[in-house]
Amino acid sequence: MFNAKITGTGSYLPKKIVSNKDFESIIDTSDEWIYERTGIRQRHVISADETTSSMAEVAANNALQAAGVDPSEIDLIIVGTSSPDRVFPSTACLLQNKLAVGDCVAFDVQAACSGFIYALGIAEQFIKAGGAKKALVIGAEANSRILNYEDRSTCVIFGDGAGAVVVEASEEKGILSTHMNSDGRYQDLLYINNPIKDQKHDGEQAHMTMHGNDVYKVAVKTLSRIVDETLEANGMVKSDVDWLIPHQANIRIINSVAKKLKMPMEKVVVTIAEQGNTSAASVPLALDQAVRDGRIKKGETILMEAFGGGFVWGSALVKM
Ligand code: ACO
Repeated sequence: MFNAKITGTGSYLPKKIVSNKDFESIIDTSDEWIYERTGIRQRHVISADETTSSMAEVAANNALQAAGVDPSEIDLIIVGTSSPDRVFPSTACLLQNKLAVGDCVAFDVQAACSGFIYALGIAEQFIKAGGAKKALVIGAEANSRILNYEDRSTCVIFGDGAGAVVVEASEEKGILSTHMNSDGRYQDLLYINNPIKDQKHDGEQAHMTMHGNDVYKVAVKTLSRIVDETLEANGMVKSDVDWLIPHQANIRIINSVAKKLKMPMEKVVVTIAEQGNTSAASVPLALDQAVRDGRIKKGETILMEAFGGGFVWGSALVKM
């Protein structure tokens, strides 16, 4: 059986930045409220001519270049997204065409903010089972297209962007384990209604609805538990982890998971102030930033985790 190893990372953030101050003239909010409650100062927003797949394309090209892999070598593309260009074809198929990858398996995973972790876990299984040798795994979101800009409790939180990794079959250890879980009983606390014909909200414009406070409580509890479960599955202790790369949902959630892990904040990759919550893109965006600025080094152990609508949650313990 092969190991599955991350051999390159990449990302993309749209040029346009919307600050908290910009929101003050649109809705009843303030920079202070947003920053204190979430840790967010600004977020990136795509322009009219960009899409989820166009952001994914740039992130994927950066990751391919970092890995020294030609698109023609890719035999699996998985995109984690809740804001695809189209319902079908999948964003992964659109990306396959944009990158001129030849025949390959390509599909999207819809696991809200855990989309990248789910995609990474699936790619790991494909590679370990011998079903793929070189995979592109992406988290990409055009959240600004699915927000209700009259709902101050969601529109200030989310941003757009894409992050990508190349995962290859390897003799070296790489992805040590991935863990995925879900609980559909929480379906009404965080959701986007169906843009075609929502079975519950027929005729409404598609947008995100979040009961933030209830989500917050379950997220803190679940993410703290998942950290323990991941380490236990690998016979590791907290001090074995070099870096925590959390989903960037709220700085207060990140702080409490770091505390649970006894991880000093210098060892936690935090991008939320500049990027907001980019859903499935947040973990690979943070990973790429910390790899490119030299914080994460070869051989170090990183713990990635995410939590989102479903609820769905997951983690990955990875040797870089
Ligand atoms: N500006 C000013 N006031 C606001 C704003 C705003 N932008 N948004 C809400 N408020 C008000 C509310 O109306 C409420 O006022 P009221 O007391 O008069 O009713 C008050 O602030 C408190 O509202 P809460 O919702 O209780 O605020 P809270 O402290 O919980 O913060 C937040 C909200 C930031 C959304 C937080 O609950 C959170 O981060 N939740 C978790 C989000 C998460 O983890 N999501 C999962 C991943 S995302 C995904 O899967 C797509």
